[in-house]
Amino acid sequence: MSEILTIALSKGRILKDTLPLLAYAGVTPIDDPDTSRKLILDTNQADIKLLVIRASDVPTYVEYGAAQIGVAGKDVLLEHDGTGLYEPVDLKIAVCKIMVAAENGKSIDQPRIKVATKYVKTARNYFASKGQQAEIIKLYGSMELAPIAGLADCIVDLVDTGNTLKANGLSPVAHIADISSRLVVNKAAMKIRHVQIKQFIRQIETAVAKKK
Ligand code: ATP
Ligand code: PRP
Repeated sequence: MSEILTIALSKGRILKDTLPLLAYAGVTPIDDPDTSRKLILDTNQADIKLLVIRASDVPTYVEYGAAQIGVAGKDVLLEHDGTGLYEPVDLKIAVCKIMVAAENGKSIDQPRIKVATKYVKTARNYFASKGQQAEIIKLYGSMELAPIAGLADCIVDLVDTGNTLKANGLSPVAHIADISSRLVVNKAAMKIRHVQIKQFIRQIETAVAKKK
């Protein structure tokens, strides 16, 4: 048997979309991830284990080599500071956009604005690239509330259908980046366990192509 391959998966929406891809690639968890309280799941392949963790923790587990492979949203990866990850495959799941949004009819064309977001680095880079001064206010969720409650002039958040913005009287005012989930690989593991990891990447690439 080859060395254990540990794959860190984001729980929630990404996990739901990742499991069918893994199944196409021949990997299925033995316990049901929806009902099991286990954080490490065995799979039908004795040398593959799954960690089910918070989306924002996936890059950290992979960067430090506690998992060799991970699945994380590009939004989370844009916020990650490390340099120890490769992003070899766009899994084309959990597709959305990261956007700036403000109250309907309000312009954000002011010399200095307040921006509420959990995507601090992305927001800072975006407004710096526009040469606009921005005070970034860190939030952990429900960003859409910030402009209507008077906390900020605008938000930087994920938009898919636009329903959440609409329901709260907000409109998108700028597109920052297209988001989808990516397979990430620890750079050192890619070198040391090249054959095993390359084979897994190929299986996932085939699964992504098949699913289209
Ligand atoms: P955490 O538990 O770390 O706070 P979260 O609550 O943001 O994460 P989810 O809502 O499951 O977790 O989102 C996980 C990922 O799914 C995001 O990082 C993003 O890549 C993607 N995502 C989030 N919202 C949407 C959406 N509306 N449509 C498509 N993809 C989305
Ligand atoms: C995400 C995101 C937006 C919403 C956008 O929230 O933070 O609020 O989806 O999707 P929409 O454009 O289709 O409305 P999610 O539903 O994951 O809730 P949470 O972040 O509060 O967990």
